[in-house]
Amino acid sequence: MRMYDIIKKKRDGIELSKEEINFFVDGYAKSEIPDYQASAFIMAIFLQKMTKQETVYLTDAMMRSGDVIDLSKIDGIKVDKHSTGGVGDKTTITLAPLVASCGAPVAKMSGRGLGHTGGTLDKLEAIPGLSIEMNQDKFTDNVNTHKIAVCGQTATIVPADKKLYALRDVTATVDNISLIASSIMSKKLASGSDAIVLDVKTGSGAFMKELDDSFNLAKEMVDIGNGMDRETIGVITDMDQPLGFAVGNSLEVIEAIETLKGNGPKDFTELCLSLGSYMLILSKVVNTYEEGRKMLEESISSGKALDKLREFIEIQGGNKDVVDNYDLLPGATNKIDVKSIKKGYVSKIEAETVGISAMMLGAGRETKEDELDLGTGIVLKKKVGDMVEEGETLACMYVNDMKKFEAAKERLLSAYTISDQRPVERKLVHGVVTK
Ligand code: URA
Repeated sequence: MRMYDIIKKKRDGIELSKEEINFFVDGYAKSEIPDYQASAFIMAIFLQKMTKQETVYLTDAMMRSGDVIDLSKIDGIKVDKHSTGGVGDKTTITLAPLVASCGAPVAKMSGRGLGHTGGTLDKLEAIPGLSIEMNQDKFTDNVNTHKIAVCGQTATIVPADKKLYALRDVTATVDNISLIASSIMSKKLASGSDAIVLDVKTGSGAFMKELDDSFNLAKEMVDIGNGMDRETIGVITDMDQPLGFAVGNSLEVIEAIETLKGNGPKDFTELCLSLGSYMLILSKVVNTYEEGRKMLEESISSGKALDKLREFIEIQGGNKDVVDNYDLLPGATNKIDVKSIKKGYVSKIEAETVGISAMMLGAGRETKEDELDLGTGIVLKKKVGDMVEEGETLACMYVNDMKKFEAAKERLLSAYTISDQRPVERKLVHGVVTK
């Protein structure tokens, strides 16, 4: 088999066989196929698209390019949650203890952030002492005893995706449904959970800006998951503006904790209750969405979910006192309000631009090597639909290095659109895709 022939076949729009897709994934993971041929092939996929069958073959080959984790020693039905990424997305920090407090085992592998979206691991590491490093035995023990463990994705899981994703990132081939679906699902399937809830974002801050594309991506991933005997549900949720108010590591930890105390932002709380209800259904803790929601709400109001968070922080080596004392988190020396230059309704807040502004303050990484400044970030004071007066505060910026402030502030202001007319309210949950 020759890579040249496989590229040509795809370029001409002919469906590839399982053997041809395996040949590419194996060869590229082993560096036997050079980047220039892989780039041409990925661009051919991008332009010609892949059939459902090809996407399944690609996912399967990618999954088998590294270790496939065996979670069978963990009791119960393990349900994973995955978000396609966004700004202010601190969901795992709230959702994992919330769902675990209702009796569903949460065995979660999370990633780090790059660019305008932050990663769960970075946010968790804002908690003093908390470690996401643990071996398989400890991970299994923690879930069996405490129903919860969150660790970093090891380098041995889907190595083909690491190489391919890096290549896509620099060849303008990220936003293709088949490539995203196979990238995400290969990692989820290799992580060993029995069932998966996918939070597929839609809107200006998401990979998929259009609702139809988000539904198609969800459908593709749900089909792959169910086709591989993992019950999978896709929930399409809004990412047209940042989620909640806080963007930045410590700030998002605080918002996640406040949500478990019952004081969370409306959109973020709704997201956690929605995704959590589906997780409880898939783990067979409840039979219906309504039952799940009630159980989650009761866990928040009784303090059970917050206790589970304390327990989770403690077993992962962190200082659980942060739950009651936010001063223990890394902070910022300057808190500066950013004011509106005109009166009107906030009609748009570009999530990606807010993410970039927070990154410029040090809350995110521009390159993999960048060190984070965990106390920095942004707390939005006005969100879409709110009325603002001229000179009124739009957001508060948390800054340590004042040299970074002016440019980040300009960027933040450019994220906001203020108009005379009240914008149409967008739903948080746009729909659900099941098999
Ligand atoms: N997240 C992933 O893991 N892969 C993609 O291709 C896009 C988002």
